[in-house]
Amino acid sequence: MEVLKAIKERRSIKKYLNKDVPLKTVLELIDAAHQAPSSGNLQNWRFIIVKNQKIKQEIAEACLDQTWMSEAPVLIVICSDREHLRTYYEKYTNTYSIQNCALAAQNLMLRAHSLKLGTCFVSGFSKMALKRALKITEGIEPESVIAIGFPTENPVSKRTSLEMITFFESYGNRRTDKSIYPLGDKLKLLFSKIKKK
Ligand SMILES: Cc1cc2nc3c(=O)[nH]c(=O)nc-3n(C[C@H](O)[C@H](O)[C@H](O)COP(=O)(O)O)c2cc1C
Repeated sequence: MEVLKAIKERRSIKKYLNKDVPLKTVLELIDAAHQAPSSGNLQNWRFIIVKNQKIKQEIAEACLDQTWMSEAPVLIVICSDREHLRTYYEKYTNTYSIQNCALAAQNLMLRAHSLKLGTCFVSGFSKMALKRALKITEGIEPESVIAIGFPTENPVSKRTSLEMITFFESYGNRRTDKSIYPLGDKLKLLFSKIKKK
């Protein structure tokens, strides 16, 4: 699937078919996540695949009682080896830990979408409860939980306009020439011209 198509189509999915996601597919998702950039190429991400119903329920509880999560056939908990990061980047451990794992998560979700799987990124949780449920050891921190399954809903994208969020040369400086918006359409045109060449 074309990258832009996957980026545009991906939505957070919280309702799933009662259908297993094969382990081979789950590992494909992790492989995509593992291709993400990371600070110093330290690859601090660690992945816990959870299919066990009881553990999924414990995770859903740790995620502030988001019960829908236990209905997902698979949960992948993305953890960070913060100790490993700390050895190299003491001052930036927290920042890099979150950033590296978030980039991995997005890769994973886009690959999942390209395989017709729905995902939802969750990071509203009690770290302590999650660590307890998953026997996560010292120095390792959960960064996010990705719920995965075949979607039974098709939510629409809710986004503000590019005009609202884009500035030129300095913060707050908007273009008065509105004809350049939406940039997305202009880029699409540009890409199609490049393709034709
Ligand atoms: C840092 C972060 C934390 C999130 N935590 C939760 C969460 O705890 N529960 C949930 O249902 N969705 C969670 N989401 C998903 C967002 O609600 C969702 O991405 C947003 O509403 C935009 O919808 P979309 O992903 O379909 O474009 C989280 C997303 C991010 C990036």
